[in-house]
Order: sequence, then structure tokens, then C-alpha cells
Amino acid sequence: MKHIWIIGTGGIALATYRLYSKRDDCSVRLIGRKEVQENNFAKVNSNDEGQISDFIIKNGIPDVVIVATGLLSNQSHGPEKTIASFTSDWFDENLKANFYPGVFWCKSLTAHLKRKDAIKFVILSARVGSISDNQLGGWYSYRISKAALNMFVRNTANEWRYKYPQSIILAYHPGTVDTNLSKPFQNSGIKKLFTPDEAAHNLKQNIDNLDDPKIWSGQLIDWRGDIVQP
Ligand SMILES: NC(=O)c1ccc[n+]([C@@H]2O[C@H](COP(=O)([O-])OP(=O)(O)OC[C@H]3O[C@@H](n4cnc5c(N)ncnc54)[C@H](OP(=O)(O)O)[C@@H]3O)[C@@H](O)[C@H]2O)c1
Repeated sequence: MKHIWIIGTGGIALATYRLYSKRDDCSVRLIGRKEVQENNFAKVNSNDEGQISDFIIKNGIPDVVIVATGLLSNQSHGPEKTIASFTSDWFDENLKANFYPGVFWCKSLTAHLKRKDAIKFVILSARVGSISDNQLGGWYSYRISKAALNMFVRNTANEWRYKYPQSIILAYHPGTVDTNLSKPFQNSGIKKLFTPDEAAHNLKQNIDNLDDPKIWSGQLIDWRGDIVQP
């Protein structure tokens, strides 16, 4: 039995939870900050290290973790088009959604890992967090919080490589997916818009294909399984 934890209850997280839940060989937990009506839901604030640590002590180490929290805009803020719109408050909100959940879950799990463990820890990032890919600018807080996340993933992979050589940490770009996060931006020349179910299928397929930690750990890959240069 594979133990899968999905952090977040948004479009991609829910579809991924439902996909894994169909399998008899998987035990799946859906973990979020707000109650949702799904079996196996657990309420944990992913910005609270104490709550995360308690959950891990109670539930042990899973085989797969998928962190699918994120923020691009809300009712009062859109992504910044110019540096003139950058504020520390909005950047902090982005860090709380795009960066800290992956960091805190990873930190707490790492404290319990053993050398022989082979976990797959996948954090939803975004291609726009790639520095080398950035030709357009804008979206300051989102891009910078995802770039920081990509660096966190690479840094942790370097640490895990010698302490937990069979485990993999990965940043993942799902493509553009029809969820609340992308809704306000879907008419801006997007070539392909995935349904959440398609995105969940692609994500699971890519996780199934993660074999050699030496190849995959520390990378940012996209939904095709191609490595994106950070
Ligand atoms: N959709 C796309 O086109 C697309 C493209 C590239 C990358 N991604 C990435 O994919 C991931 C999932 O996005 P999605 O499309 O599924 O978005 P979504 O439907 O808007 O879901 C976002 C999730 O993040 C949670 N969240 C927001 N702020 C949080 C915070 N401070 N602490 C904890 N949880 C927080 C939300 O929780 P509440 O419901 O409680 O607010 C929700 O569960 C994100 O990392 C996103 O950047 C998405």
C-alpha cells in the first residue's frame, strides 16, 4: 500500500486526490487549511510548523507528498505588471502560499527521514519561476516566490543526495490548468488549457516515472516530463 499525501484543496489538489483515491493500492490523505467534504481530509495549516510536525508524528512517513498550494491573485490584488506595484505585504502573501508550505512540510518530514527511505516529494511550482525562461517580466511576487521555491528544491536535493540517497524532491510545472488560480488570465494567448483531471493524470504519470534520484532530484520539470532550466 502506497501512502500519498496531497497538501492543498484547490483545483489540481482535489483532482489529484480523487485520481489516487480510485486506486486500491493507495491510501490517500487530503490536507488543507479549510474543511472540505472529502473522506480522509485533515485540517492542517501549512504555515504552522507545529501543526505539520504533529501530523507527521501521528501519521508517519508517506511514500509520496504533493504540495499543491499557491496564489497568483485575489479579490484585491492582481499580479504586479510593474515594480511600482510591488509591496512587501503582497509578496509575503505569495510566500505564504507559494513557498513556505513546501518548505515547512519538507523540513518537518526530513527530521523523520531515515537513510533507507525512498520518498517522492513533489512541489507544484511554475515555469514562470524559471529565471532563464523569463523574457516578459511582470508578475513580480509570483515569479520571485516560485524562483525561491525552485532554489529551495535544488538546495534540499543537494542535502538529501548524501543523507537520503533514495529520496527525490522535485518542482513541477503543471501547464496552464483551468482552476481558480488561472481563471482571470485564461484569455492571454494560452496554447493549451488542461482540465484539472488532465493535470492530475499528467502529474501522477510523471510521479510514476520518477526513478533515479540522481537524474530527477532537484529538478523543475514540466507536465511533459521535460526538465526546465531554472
Ligand atoms: N492553474 C494553473 O494554470 C497553474 C499553472 C502553473 C502552476 N500552478 C501551480 O499549481 C499549484 C496549484 O494551483 P491550482 O491551479 O490548483 O490553484 P487553486 O485552485 O487556486 O488552489 C490553490 C490552493 O492553495 C491554497 N492556498 C492559498 N494560499 C494558501 C496559504 N497561505 N496557505 C495554505 N494554502 C494556501 C488554497 O487554499 P484555500 O482554498 O484554503 O484558499 C488552495 O487549496 C500552485 O502552486 C500553482 O502555482 C498552477
